[in-house]
Amino acid sequence: MARFSDPQDPLFQALNSSIAFDFRLAPYDLEQSVAHARMLAHAGIIGEEDLGELERGLEQVRREIEEDRFEVKPDDEDVHMAIERRLTEIVGSVGGKLHTARSRNDQVATDVAMLVRAHSLGARGLLTELMTVLVDLAERHVDWPMPGYTHLQRAQPVYLSHHLLAYFWKFRRDLQRFNFCMTATDDLPLGAGALAGVNFDTSRMFVAQELGFGGIAENSLDAVSNRDFVLDYLAAAATCATHLSQLGSEIVLWSSLEFGFCEVSDAFASGSSLMPQKKNPDAAELLRAKAPRVVGRLASLHGVLHGLPLTYNKDLQEDKEPLFDAVDTLELCLRVAAAMLGGIRFNRERMAAAASDEFIAATDVADLLVRRGVPFRAAHGIVGSLVRAAVDRGKQLSELTEEELRELAPQLDGEYYELLRQGAWLESKVSEGGTALVRVQDQLAQARHVLDEADE
Ligand code: ARG
Repeated sequence: MARFSDPQDPLFQALNSSIAFDFRLAPYDLEQSVAHARMLAHAGIIGEEDLGELERGLEQVRREIEEDRFEVKPDDEDVHMAIERRLTEIVGSVGGKLHTARSRNDQVATDVAMLVRAHSLGARGLLTELMTVLVDLAERHVDWPMPGYTHLQRAQPVYLSHHLLAYFWKFRRDLQRFNFCMTATDDLPLGAGALAGVNFDTSRMFVAQELGFGGIAENSLDAVSNRDFVLDYLAAAATCATHLSQLGSEIVLWSSLEFGFCEVSDAFASGSSLMPQKKNPDAAELLRAKAPRVVGRLASLHGVLHGLPLTYNKDLQEDKEPLFDAVDTLELCLRVAAAMLGGIRFNRERMAAAASDEFIAATDVADLLVRRGVPFRAAHGIVGSLVRAAVDRGKQLSELTEEELRELAPQLDGEYYELLRQGAWLESKVSEGGTALVRVQDQLAQARHVLDEADE
């Protein structure tokens, strides 16, 4: 700084300053600074008295921030400079010793890693809550039939529990992705200095242990340039937000009069200012719409990192806003999804009526033929002609007479009518992971087991 005689251009300052958004790193920066100061004293680089003063000053800064009394000054370019400036005001020149054997480059990488770890843990907690809501809902609607869809066309009936649990497993994978994010933040960057290491024999493992890192980044150049853990978090968040979007989208469809499968509570809906009969599932719509924003944050950071030479470049300051926005967006959406699903009401009759459409049993009739020795492809054709005949004659499949059946599918007999009794084809999906009740019960037990493990 001292080399510059001209004051900085205010426009440049506006571009360069990150304090407006990186101030939220303050709790991590303070924790890190305490650990660093302790290490400096432990290694004999500063005296015990200095450490006492630094700890006292950092504690006061922490309180000022916590109580919203911290005053940011115009020259505070970023959170790290703001804290050091205030520390020095409080404890005097000894405050200047804190930055011994440290650069803002390894400092900021460490703060961001700490934040990513904290919010990966946070996402895990919120996901677990959402997954618990899904399991509870599945248990309460375990045997409610509904149509399962492909191409948004009624395909085969399933139980509502089975449909809800499908999301459980998607969120389970998200949970695993956030677990990985915790691993990705496990190597401490601090101690790498500006890029090449520092001129003191510091004890990085000491700091790692103080801060809960499992180890240290082995290469100082990598340490200050690494933002992989931010990419990992954003990728996990993007996939998770996409799952929330898919879930939201179904709630929107199901809330329509055309489906009439569910109703979200008033607390998560709005009325129309013009049409008094309307209830809009806004929360679900916004869950649907937030995902691309998170995906965009991931793309932004890939753009920032693309082609970046080693090591620290100011570009890296642009890691923060995408990360923070993704954190806030995802955590809010996870909370909303859990609360909205907690108050949702499903309509048993509407779902059952949509699922009792007999044409939905076409695959089961084909399988009956297969059991009689007809190759599946041929069976498929035979059932196709049954369906066409029924549609042409304005009948349900079970309304075809025995004569009609003899003529179109001589391989079939009374078991055909038995099969078409409502519900029979749901309970026939007995394969592992299928929708038959026994399998859903297995699935529920597995899901409970996953939740118990996540609790530990
Ligand atoms: N505000 C900066 C950032 O977030 C801190 C690191 C600054 N380092 C530097 N050499 N200018 O990246």
